[in-house]
Amino acid sequence: MNTLENKRIIICGKGGSGKSSFASMMGKALCSKNYSVILVDGDASNPGGLLRLATGSKDAPIPLIEFFGGREKVTCPTDDPAPLTRLFDSVPLIEQPIDLSEIPDKYYIAKENLFLFQVGKIQTSCEGCDGPMSKINRDLFIKGNYVTLIDVEAGIEHFGRGVEENVDAIIIMVDPTFESLDVAEQVINLSKLFEIEQVWAVLNKIDSEESESFMMKELKKRNVLVIGKINLDKNISKAGLEGKQIGECEALKQTELIVKKLESVFSLSWN
Ligand SMILES: Nc1ncnc2c1ncn2[C@@H]1O[C@H](COP(=O)(O)OP(=O)(O)OP(=O)(O)O)[C@@H](O)[C@H]1O
Ligand SMILES: [Mg+2]
Repeated sequence: MNTLENKRIIICGKGGSGKSSFASMMGKALCSKNYSVILVDGDASNPGGLLRLATGSKDAPIPLIEFFGGREKVTCPTDDPAPLTRLFDSVPLIEQPIDLSEIPDKYYIAKENLFLFQVGKIQTSCEGCDGPMSKINRDLFIKGNYVTLIDVEAGIEHFGRGVEENVDAIIIMVDPTFESLDVAEQVINLSKLFEIEQVWAVLNKIDSEESESFMMKELKKRNVLVIGKINLDKNISKAGLEGKQIGECEALKQTELIVKKLESVFSLSWN
């Protein structure tokens, strides 16, 4: 078995730090190592960045919340921690993961061995909070040897909703801002409550040795471990601007190194 199979990995960080860009590159990097990937757009407030960056598609899949019965069935985990189940079944997905063949293909976009889902998007005023979508982030277990990557909303609200209950690793995107360093520290502290061992920062948008070494120093003070870095890369901003898929670029190669490092830390943690 490949080391990252069956792992659920959350990608979090300050708003605009590069979560969606990195999640799409990591999906691509994993696929090129022959992993099969479930890529979850778990951010209810941004319209479709991850979808375009990861697949190039402009046609969104039907949100997963509809598959699970909508807001009437899927409740906010802070009001009701009950686990997510199939619509006409009471067995939690965490106990009996759902097979991809049970989910009609209108609920995902497939690109080679990557399957992109959107948990749901806030569409209308006063429709309610995005808690139900968080429950899907928390409890979406798909049968098979997938790596599940979850691109969550900015900041740390996902911790408040307990999304981290079922994750194996957290990646914190840290861009060159003080705010980003502080969010990373908060994530480290909150992740201790969930006893998650693999919590790593990725430095993003690095454009000078000076800012990199400042960030490394500040993160060390905050007990945040760094697994790798991605330079400021105009291929990423261009893809983001034009609404296109991120293609081959230096940043993708740096992402491949991060995937390799993640595989090695997971294999070490088994010994
Ligand atoms: N390494 C990079 N080099 C250049 N631009 C980047 C890099 N990473 C991200 N960006 C740009 O930064 C902006 C924010 O990136 P992205 O949407 O991936 O962040 P995010 O954390 O998902 O944002 P949000 O909090 O809104 O979900 C985009 O314009 C993107 O193109
Ligand atoms: Mg995003």
